[in-house]
Amino acid sequence: MSKDKDRSAQMDKIVALCKRKGFIFQNSEIYGGQNGFWDYGPLGVELKRNVREAWWQDMVNMHDPLDAPEGAPDKFQMTGVETSIIMHPQVWKASGHFDLFSDMMQTCRQCKKLFRADHVWEMIEESEWFQSLAKECGVAFGTQLATIDSAAILQWAKAKKQGRRLAPGLAVVRNPEVTLSWLAEHQQSQPNQPLSAVDLLRYLATEQKNQTGLQTPCPNCGGDLTEPRHFNLMFETHTGALQSDDNKAFLRPETAQGIFVNFKNVVDSSRVKIPFGVAQIGKSFRNEITPRNFTFRSREFEQMEIEFFCHPDTSPQWYKYWRDRRFAWYTSLGIGNERLTLRDHDADELSHYSVGTADIEYQFPFMAEGEFGELEGIAHRGDFDLRSHMEGKLQAKDGKLEVQLDEHGQPKWRGSGKDLTYFDDQAKERFTPHVIEPSAGADRATLAFICEAYYEDEQPDDKGNMQSRTVMRFHPRLAPIKVAVLPLIKKAGMPEKAKELFRNLKSAGIAAQYDEQSAIGRRYRRQDEIGTPWCVTIDGQTVEEDNTVTLRDRDSLEQVRLPMDEVVNEISNRLRST
Ligand code: GAP
Repeated sequence: MSKDKDRSAQMDKIVALCKRKGFIFQNSEIYGGQNGFWDYGPLGVELKRNVREAWWQDMVNMHDPLDAPEGAPDKFQMTGVETSIIMHPQVWKASGHFDLFSDMMQTCRQCKKLFRADHVWEMIEESEWFQSLAKECGVAFGTQLATIDSAAILQWAKAKKQGRRLAPGLAVVRNPEVTLSWLAEHQQSQPNQPLSAVDLLRYLATEQKNQTGLQTPCPNCGGDLTEPRHFNLMFETHTGALQSDDNKAFLRPETAQGIFVNFKNVVDSSRVKIPFGVAQIGKSFRNEITPRNFTFRSREFEQMEIEFFCHPDTSPQWYKYWRDRRFAWYTSLGIGNERLTLRDHDADELSHYSVGTADIEYQFPFMAEGEFGELEGIAHRGDFDLRSHMEGKLQAKDGKLEVQLDEHGQPKWRGSGKDLTYFDDQAKERFTPHVIEPSAGADRATLAFICEAYYEDEQPDDKGNMQSRTVMRFHPRLAPIKVAVLPLIKKAGMPEKAKELFRNLKSAGIAAQYDEQSAIGRRYRRQDEIGTPWCVTIDGQTVEEDNTVTLRDRDSLEQVRLPMDEVVNEISNRLRST
């Protein structure tokens, strides 16, 4: 099996486990599901809460404003807000989302399905019709088409017949002669440059389009796609009883704007001094054209964002600081360095507001070998947002951001007109702060922690036979259940002892589970599969001899004996020290 097939089989197992064990369910499943929306089950809700809490604790609550953290250019304050999902519509005009927050979209003329233009080729390569066609042509996917001979011509002729069944609207199927002549030409002009089947289709759909009228094929049916068009990703709604343009509102596509519009309130109410950061966790909504890869790209998702306000002169240092610190956060919670990268955006990738962005990316199993998916973006937003909310919509001109003027020379979209500058009373300087924004997705982080935790091995069962074991190796801070309490058997006073310990753990605020059903080995495996780091077993020795219990470690499988009345402290200490 190829590495990519292994990875996709692994992803299938992870998705199945998420459903079976109550981590993540398809939303509205009994009605056939709602594409792009997901529900967290009993264990998933705990896991995601732990992700959010770890972020808030590490970024806000445990932050020490009196001391500079390692790598930071100076000491700073961190605080938080929680703002509404629906905001004044002008916010989105000033922020640029109203005009610019769109994806290029293509529609199939035959089956009417919509696709994100930048995903089309990837989807074609994955499509059933493409794979079948490539096979029919004798060009197993990935095989290079280096030479043209009569056998290849025969295969293409066959493809023409088979192709009609597989993808009747596909340009290359309609006109395989074009393919052949182009192949011959290619072979003559570049004899040492072999082609893959994808290169071939791509060429036919793009470079030769004008001469042949051939279009990009539809990933679903192989039909013709329309030219790419803009499609705004904001969900619209209306406030109040009437549904007119006057009361149109939008579900926020990012939590960031709630922080920017409250910049002055935070400065005035909490006496923070620049540099400082404001954190927010909350739901965001984007009408994604092709939601996919489980929860990776959803239409409703949660963000964990920090807007860090600093002096323009020191902003490059803060940008570097936040890139490094956020990368280290993921590794501190168990993500392997080798599956994580920090990638700087190329100039043509930058968002409309950004003067520099780096993405922290994770190698999700649904991506091809060597490819990574974005977990978090760290953007240097300059003074774009505060200036926009003061003055009006800005646009990039000659490498600078300027207020966009209408035909009367007035700013096109007026901002609030409020003064959002900052006065440094020590330096006696007024300036518009620059912003560094580490913006993470809570659902993407949760998905990465799930994928990273998934592990299979073999362990002996109660009878000594080797059995395969699935373990979710969650970091203890993230594990939904921290400890399971298991009486060895359901009699001889063991359940009573176990219940006493279980209650003590609960009263100490430790997420514990009590389980007395089935053989002890099976109970251990049940806990391994949901990622419980520790199991405590109450046995004959506990009841009859010395009140000690065994404490089993999920990863090392090591078991130690300790007095039952030390368990709560031991678990609390282990949780604190991880
Ligand atoms: N305020 C900046 C901003 O929103 P972004 O890169 O569009 O930047 C930040 O989003 C993070 O939000 C992403 O890195 C990702 O983790 C998460 N995110 C964005 N769109 C998402 C979606 N459709 N589904 C799940 N998570 C998403």
